[in-house]
Amino acid sequence: MRTIIEPFRIKVVEPIRLTTLDERRALLAAAGHNLFAIHADDVIVDLLTDSGTSAMSAEQWGAVMRGDESYAGSPSFYRFEAAVRELMPFRHVIPTHQGRAAEAILFSIVGGPGKVIPSNTHFDTTRGNIEATGAEAVDLVVAAAHDPDDLSPFKGNIDLDRLERLLTEQGERVPLVMLTVTNNAGGGQPVSLANIRTAAAIAHRHGKPLIIDGCRFAENAWFIKCREPGQEGRSVKDIVRDMFDAADGMTMSAKKDAFANIGGWLAVNDDTLAAAARNRLILTEGFPTYGGLAGRDLDAIAAGLREIVDEQYLRYRVRTNEYIGEKLTALGVPIVRPVGGHAVFVDARRFLPHIPPLQYPGQSLAVALYEHGGIRACEIGTVMFGLRPDGTEVPAEMDLVRLAMPRRVYTQSHADYVVEVFEEVAKRRSELRGMRIVSQPRQLRHFTARFEPLS
Ligand SMILES: Cc1ncc(COP(=O)(O)O)c(C=O)c1O
Repeated sequence: MRTIIEPFRIKVVEPIRLTTLDERRALLAAAGHNLFAIHADDVIVDLLTDSGTSAMSAEQWGAVMRGDESYAGSPSFYRFEAAVRELMPFRHVIPTHQGRAAEAILFSIVGGPGKVIPSNTHFDTTRGNIEATGAEAVDLVVAAAHDPDDLSPFKGNIDLDRLERLLTEQGERVPLVMLTVTNNAGGGQPVSLANIRTAAAIAHRHGKPLIIDGCRFAENAWFIKCREPGQEGRSVKDIVRDMFDAADGMTMSAKKDAFANIGGWLAVNDDTLAAAARNRLILTEGFPTYGGLAGRDLDAIAAGLREIVDEQYLRYRVRTNEYIGEKLTALGVPIVRPVGGHAVFVDARRFLPHIPPLQYPGQSLAVALYEHGGIRACEIGTVMFGLRPDGTEVPAEMDLVRLAMPRRVYTQSHADYVVEVFEEVAKRRSELRGMRIVSQPRQLRHFTARFEPLS
C-alpha cells in the first residue's frame, strides 16, 4: 500500500481547543509574543519539542501500575536494567531523572579546567554541563552539516580527520570522545555505523573511551538501515546493538526514544567510573536502583524500549517528518534537507529575506504560525544564540524554526493542517514584520524575553 498509516489505534484522547484568530492575537500580545509564555491548552498543534511529549502505550500504562516503589532493590529497576542491556550491552546502568542529570554526573567526574571534550555537535545541556566544570566542548561535525541543501545521507557524522588531529595534538587534555545520535543540534541528522565504528577505533587508539549520547538511537538506527550500504537487510535491533557495541558508555534521555515522559540513564563499562558515578548519584539523584525516578517510571521506560525498535513505528515516524518536509518544499518554503528524524527545520532567514537577522526572522515566523494556525514551534536562531555575555548581539549562524514532532501524538490530518497553515503564512510572507525585544534576561533569553512586532 502507498499510504504509511499510523501503526496504532487511539484509545484515550485529549481534546484540542480550537481558538480563533482574534483570541490568538490577544494571547500573543499578553505573552509578549513569546511562545514559551503561551498556555499549552491555547495551542492547537504543539511542535515545541519531541522531548517528554510522547503518547505512552497501553503496555506502558500497564507497566506503570506494576511499578514497585521500594527504596532499594526494586524489581522495577531490574526490569529497566534488563531492557536497557537488551539493546545496549553496558556493564553498569545508572538511572537518572533525565538526560542532563546523566551528563552532569559524567562531567563532574571527567571534566574540569583544561579538559577538552569533542563531539559531532554537543546538545546545549551537554555543552552547558561540560562548560560548568571549566572544560571546553568542541564540535567537529562534518562540513556538509552546515549546508541546508547538501543531501548527504549522514550529515550528523563527526569529521574523523579533525578528531584524529585533536587527539594527536591535545590528547592529554581529552578524557573521552562523544557522539550525539541523531545529531539534534545539527537538525536531527543521523550518524552512520561506519562513522561510529571509526570514531571508536580512533578514540581507542588514543586510549580514550567513546560515549554515545543516545537520545534518538532508534531513529538513527532506522536511517542506517535505510541509507547505509550493507545494512538494509538487518533488523533495527541488531543495528542498535552494533552502534553501542562500538562504544564504552552512553548518556540517555528516556524522554525521546524510550517513549517515556521523564527519565534517563548513564551506562558505562568502566568499573571505577561507574563507582564514582553511583557515589555522585546518591548525592544528587537518589539510590542507584531508582536514581531520581519512581519505580513506575522505570517500568514505563522498560516497556517503551521494547516498542521503540519496532520497524513499522520507525517507518511511520520518519515518514511523518519527510511528508511535511516534501509538502513545504513544494510550497517553496526553504527547509534543512534531508529532513531529520524528529523534526523539520524551516530556514526562516531565507523564507523572510526582508527581515534582517537582528530583527529575528525565526521569531517572526514562529509567531505567525501561532497567530494564523495555533501552531507552536521553536525559534532556533538569533533569539536563542545571538546574545553575547557582554550584552552585545550577533546574528546566529542560521535563523531556523523547528517543528519537532511528538511521538505517536498527531495524525496525518494534523500534518496536513500544519502544511495548510504554512500555505496561509507563505501568502502573507511579505507582510510579516521583524521583532524588537522589549525585555530580556542576561542568559537563555529565548525562554522569557518579551517581544513587540516592528511597525
Ligand atoms: C541530544 C540531546 N542530548 C541531551 C538532551 C537532554 O535530555 P533531557 O532533556 O532529558 O535532560 C537532549 C534533550 O533535548 C537532547 O536532545
